[in-house]
Amino acid sequence: MASVTLGKVEKAYDGLKTVHGIDLEIADGEFIVLVGPSGCGKSTTLRMIAGLETVTGGEVAIGGRRVNELQPGERDIAMVFQNYALYPHLSVAENIVFGLKLRKVPKADIESRLKRTAEILGLEQYLDRKPRQLSGGQRQRVAMGRALIRNPAVFLFDEPLSNLDAKLRVQMRTEIKELHARIPTTTIYVTHDQIEAMTLADRVVVMNKGRIEQVAAPEELYQRPATRFVAGFIGSPGMNFFSVTIEAGGSELVLKLPDGQSLAVPDSRRALFAPHVGAQMLIGIRPEHFSAPAESAANTLDIVATLVEPLGMDTLVHFRMNGTDAVARLLPMPGLNAGASLKLAVDMAKVHLLDPKTDAVLG
Ligand SMILES: Nc1ncnc2c1ncn2[C@@H]1O[C@H](COP(=O)(O)OP(=O)(O)OP(=O)(O)O)[C@@H](O)[C@H]1O
Ligand SMILES: [Mg+2]
Repeated sequence: MASVTLGKVEKAYDGLKTVHGIDLEIADGEFIVLVGPSGCGKSTTLRMIAGLETVTGGEVAIGGRRVNELQPGERDIAMVFQNYALYPHLSVAENIVFGLKLRKVPKADIESRLKRTAEILGLEQYLDRKPRQLSGGQRQRVAMGRALIRNPAVFLFDEPLSNLDAKLRVQMRTEIKELHARIPTTTIYVTHDQIEAMTLADRVVVMNKGRIEQVAAPEELYQRPATRFVAGFIGSPGMNFFSVTIEAGGSELVLKLPDGQSLAVPDSRRALFAPHVGAQMLIGIRPEHFSAPAESAANTLDIVATLVEPLGMDTLVHFRMNGTDAVARLLPMPGLNAGASLKLAVDMAKVHLLDPKTDAVLG
């Protein structure tokens, strides 16, 4: 096992930078997930760690050793891709041990490692089959077996589950998590599925446009996003943002929304909002922090539903606030249709304040 350190790692293709100086310290045994929108540089970063792409600036170290100049085979890593390309003419067993044979590992050693790997992944009864005789999940397990059997210092995964159907993806996700609990090998896992990121990671690295936006444990990322990007990216549906002016009305602080409605700042949040009285700010409200108001509710908004999506467990109600699209996650509301007027209560303890100039989340 090993730590992985990225120091100001950059990648430029033909002089055009796509990864802009990534700094990241990954502890021995840690499960790190890189997440972010398409094209943000996740795969490029992973491939630089693997040695499949050259590093055009900065340093990659594995186990404290600089590896920039080392070939992938010399880095003690194993990688599992989205397109795991098993050899169709080889059996499951032959696919799994292929890399060991290339490395001229002794036969007895190969046999015992194959047995153990097959046990771990529940592939014992499939060892003689060909890949085409397996389900998608079993094939993915063979691809993992190929990586696992090498007992590498670091596992690298690039969207390994994205070719599987939804149910299998959940099952494999659980298996990967259990596997890491049993054999805590340092793991760097790329996905654009935030549920995968949140459920698997010790820490999540949110990337945007070739930069790191925030590195944090899943819960912290949800509760204390550092930037507007992270606030909007983590959570599904994402956080709603409204432009407000903060007004002092007597002893009360009030958030004035662009359509003239207002929300009162509770005492517990006063210190956060008070320095910005008179300023045009941004507030962030997660869909789940709206609710159908009780009779006596204080902070409510009048809205008109533009779209209603019943999901079973809850209902998404879309609405518009002066041209801004927003969505609330409410308890099931049978009979509610687009065009209906309703009131939404806002959980003011959970409202975030953002600086529209810097996009920083202030609290
Ligand atoms: N070989 C290449 N030559 C030029 N540009 C490249 C090359 N490979 C990747 N890029 C560019 O680098 C950027 C980052 O790509 P990368 O594959 O790392 O994104 P990603 O975050 O993995 O996205 P996705 O979620 O779609 O897989 C993209 O803008 C991409 O077009
Ligand atoms: Mg990618």
